[in-house]
Amino acid sequence: MEKILITGGAGYIGSHTAIALSSAGYQPIIIDDFSNSNKSALAGLKQILGKDIPYYEGDCNDKKLMQQIFSEHQLSGVIHFAANKAVGESTALPLKYYRNNVGSLVVLLETMAEFGVKDLVFSSSCTVYGQPDELPVKETTPRKDAESPYGNTKKICEDILVDVVKSGAKMRIISLRYFNPIGAHKSSLIGELPLGVPANLVPFVTQAGIGLREKLTVYGNDYDTPDGTCVRDYIHVMDLADAHVKSIEYLQDKPDNYYDLFNVGTGNGNTVLEVIQTFEKVSGRPLNYQVGPRRPGDVVKVWADTQKIEEKLGWKAQYSLEDALRDSWNWQLTLSEK
Ligand code: WQD
Repeated sequence: MEKILITGGAGYIGSHTAIALSSAGYQPIIIDDFSNSNKSALAGLKQILGKDIPYYEGDCNDKKLMQQIFSEHQLSGVIHFAANKAVGESTALPLKYYRNNVGSLVVLLETMAEFGVKDLVFSSSCTVYGQPDELPVKETTPRKDAESPYGNTKKICEDILVDVVKSGAKMRIISLRYFNPIGAHKSSLIGELPLGVPANLVPFVTQAGIGLREKLTVYGNDYDTPDGTCVRDYIHVMDLADAHVKSIEYLQDKPDNYYDLFNVGTGNGNTVLEVIQTFEKVSGRPLNYQVGPRRPGDVVKVWADTQKIEEKLGWKAQYSLEDALRDSWNWQLTLSEK
């Protein structure tokens, strides 16, 4: 059984990708420092898969640990999620983000080269486009100056990957630019576990829906959009997980020196108010919200052109916004029963 190392594999997208990999016949191996995840995710994985997923607790910047993992397992590839991802925090603590997000990628690439592991799927983000010049946004749409150190680390990491492949290294790499991941596995045994007050919309919505938060603040309704609120491309985390499996499979017949990148979104844009209305429909309860000032740095509208990933990887999002919000809500209900 081919082994795939998932860095940050106990995290939100990493844990769902472990499910998709296992279902596709791969053996996931996880490394996670649990700084933004919880070991309960590993228990959830065991309940869903009926087996333990081997894991290492530690930091991808720890070269000795990475060398230990690569020496203990004959890895077929790596999916690199491990990174800090809070846009606001990155503005306050840029060096934490550069050391972790950029530093850990360099350590990973060095270790992969040392052990001759050449297949890598990298977790990038649509944030590299800023407010795109064209919509829907294509992979050829120019990237913009990042709005935050977090976004800049994604751009820098993409550039590192391009330079490594340009150097002639025996590496086959895909960068996936995620849009807005939401939802949870249908079992409600794993899902998003935001630490503290959620910065992202959907976890805040479900916490407000369950009464953990008094009310949601909609950050501005005076934008140039159908209802004045920002537009995003919300993609079910299981669709996103499947895109990672398709990426690993796509690399199998590529030359030893290869790089490509893909947008991973639904191709549809929804406003904040549409998310609220859809949540009220799936939960059967009204959401308490108010409209407040715009959030600095927010992009007004962004959604993906998915033609390239559909044609080359044969991947297309299967779940709707309603499916994803229903799964997010069911996960929140399960969390509240614990
Ligand atoms: C979505 C919309 C907010 C909270 C960020 C990162 C991106 C990725 C996902 C890491 C916006 C509005 C939000 C709230 C609101 N992160 N909103 N009230 O900003 O599109 O993307 O998270 O991988 O890289 O940039 O996601 O969920 O924070 O916001 O009105 O309490 O919801 O203004 O329009 P965003 P988000």
